[in-house]
Amino acid sequence: MERIQMDRVIIYVGAVCNLRCKLCSEYIPYTSENPPYYCPEQIKKALYEYFRIVSHVKMIVLTGGEPFINENTAIITEYLSEYMDQYDKLEIMTNGTLLPNESLLRACAKNEKTIIFINHYGELSPKVNAIHEACEKAGVRNTIRKYYGEDAHFGGWFDLGILSGERLTDENELKDRFKHCLTGNNPRLGLSFGLYGGKLFACSVSGIVERLGLMDDKMAYIDLCDDTLSHEQKRDRITALRKSEYLPACAVCHGNDSRVEKQRFVPAEQLS
Ligand SMILES: C[S@@+](CC[C@H](N)C(=O)[O-])C[C@H]1O[C@@H](n2cnc3c(N)ncnc32)[C@H](O)[C@@H]1O
Ligand code: SF4
Repeated sequence: MERIQMDRVIIYVGAVCNLRCKLCSEYIPYTSENPPYYCPEQIKKALYEYFRIVSHVKMIVLTGGEPFINENTAIITEYLSEYMDQYDKLEIMTNGTLLPNESLLRACAKNEKTIIFINHYGELSPKVNAIHEACEKAGVRNTIRKYYGEDAHFGGWFDLGILSGERLTDENELKDRFKHCLTGNNPRLGLSFGLYGGKLFACSVSGIVERLGLMDDKMAYIDLCDDTLSHEQKRDRITALRKSEYLPACAVCHGNDSRVEKQRFVPAEQLS
């Protein structure tokens, strides 16, 4: 079977977090009463299938929720080392509140493609320096990203507006939104996929919109764990999604329009 290449896939290890950021791009605090659970065996099975369909992906991102809370992070990082020749970069995010455990540090250290991004939210991230030191000691590449003060990374956070209640229905407007969206369809980073458990969504925001109960569309994702579908069928579904002119989630996501200077907000402001 001819396999495909991909620009970026974002793997969600889980939706649990120890912070409650108002503008969290994953909308984690808004589903924290009943967070979905992604079982490690399911994610591993999905990745097994993924690498039979995708010959190469430029970038993999492990995120959550808070990846350092979740035991999946070490398990998935370890598992991904089996496919090291099929990707260029593995990025792991953390909010700077917790130290990584030994098994995660070991899994990262043996994979030179791994880098940990330690996101520094000021006083909310008391463990930033200790994480940096633990990574250095274990031989794990890491970078601290400053998300507070005047010179915050990227000028601050933005608002995807998913919970605004607005719903776009006009086809041309939906196509226009997707065409110019820097989140789902970035000209530099390419089309971004999101893996939630076994479900592979085109544009990671689609998985969030589904988790929030704002979309129920089986055509928005491919269930990589579905054994009734062949690898060819899964590949063809991914290819069809890549060719879409817009995605079901574009109706509720305000997107990240490349033509508009987006308003920036203070990162990690906490909900009470
Ligand atoms: C959702 S977080 C999950 C990982 C981890 N809990 C953390 O906060 O670093 C993943 C990345 O998204 C960024 N992020 C979260 N909400 C954002 C927003 N509204 N605008 C821009 N970036 C955002 C975070 O700073 C982090 O770099
Ligand atoms: S730390 Fe904040 S941005 Fe990161 S997942 Fe938790 S709530 Fe979202």
